[in-house]
Parts: sequence; C-alpha cells; structure tokens
Amino acid sequence: MRWLPAALAISLTCTACNGPDSDLPPSYRHVVVPAERLRSGEAIARGEALYETHCALCHGERGDGRGRRSAGFAKRPTRFADPGWRDRTTPRRVFFTIREGVSGTPMPSWRWLSEDETWDLAAYVLSLAGTASPGDDASPGSD
Ligand code: HEC
Repeated sequence: MRWLPAALAISLTCTACNGPDSDLPPSYRHVVVPAERLRSGEAIARGEALYETHCALCHGERGDGRGRRSAGFAKRPTRFADPGWRDRTTPRRVFFTIREGVSGTPMPSWRWLSEDETWDLAAYVLSLAGTASPGDDASPGSD
C-alpha cells in the first residue's frame, strides 16, 4: 500500500484535473467559486430579482421548469427545484452555463450580465433545490 499516500497527494493537489468540473473550458475550470456569496441571503435575494426578470419565463416562477415560454421546447428548461439537479451540478458549471448558454437548446448566453450578477443568479438557483411541492415533479414532456 506504499502508493496510497502518493495517490492521495496527487488527487488533492489536482482536484480540477479530474474533478466534476474537468470537462469545462479552461477559463471556467479554475474560476474561483465565491463560497460566501453563494451562501449570502443578500446575494440570493439579488439573484431572485434577476431571475424573475430574465429566467422565470422559461424556468418557471418556482424553478419547476414550467415557465410560460417553455411549452413546445424539445428540451425542457432545467428544474432547479429538483434536488437531484443540484446534486449533479457544481457552482462552476452553473456559472459557466449561465454565461455561455447551452448551444442547440433555447438556453441563451447571459454574458452581458456582470460576473457578480451571474454568481447572484447561481446562488439563487442553487438555493431552490427541494422547494418544489409534491406533484411538481412530472417528468419532461408529460404535459
Ligand atoms: C428561452 C428560455 C430560457 C431562458 C430565458 C433561460 N433559460 Fe436556462 N435553460 C433553458 C433550457 C431549455 C435549458 C436546458 C438546456 C439543456 O437541455 O441542456 C436551460 C438550462 C439552464 C441551466 C443548466 C442546468 C443544467 O442542467 O446544468 C442553467 C444553470 C440555466 N438554464 C440558468 C438560467 C438562468 C440563470 C436564466 C436567466 C438569466 C436562464 N437560464 C434563462 C431555457 C432558458
């Protein structure tokens, strides 16, 4: 078991190399996550205001993926209220997706928002997991 400490040391010093963000473009892979901001009630409140203006139309008022504009989309807007989504994603990935959009889907790029505003939005959408009421979690395309 002599290799074990070495392997541990490598995996600790190189978390961005094989961690959950390793497939992001280099300029996003190493972005410093503002952990304090993500937990801040003020940031979440600012993010909520931005969300209502720009995102609820598709992602739904409560982050349930059922915004007015979402009908007929081949790909349903992500349901932020789903705890499974939050567990699968990371703050960097959310930041990346908001800034770059998702090509081939209706999700636009929001690069004209500042990086601070983008983190506020990330704080808000990541805070929504688990807030859906029972019955909100119909599978995509079921309506
Ligand atoms: C025109 C509709 C539309 C608007 C407006 C919109 N989105 Fe999206 N968004 C989508 C769709 C559709 C997807 C799913 C893309 C996919 O299937 O990969 C998505 C995906 C996402 C994802 C990726 C989630 C994941 O699975 O990793 C994030 C984060 C996101 N949107 C945040 C936002 C934020 C924040 C705003 C407002 C600033 C916003 N979106 C506005 C349609 C929209």
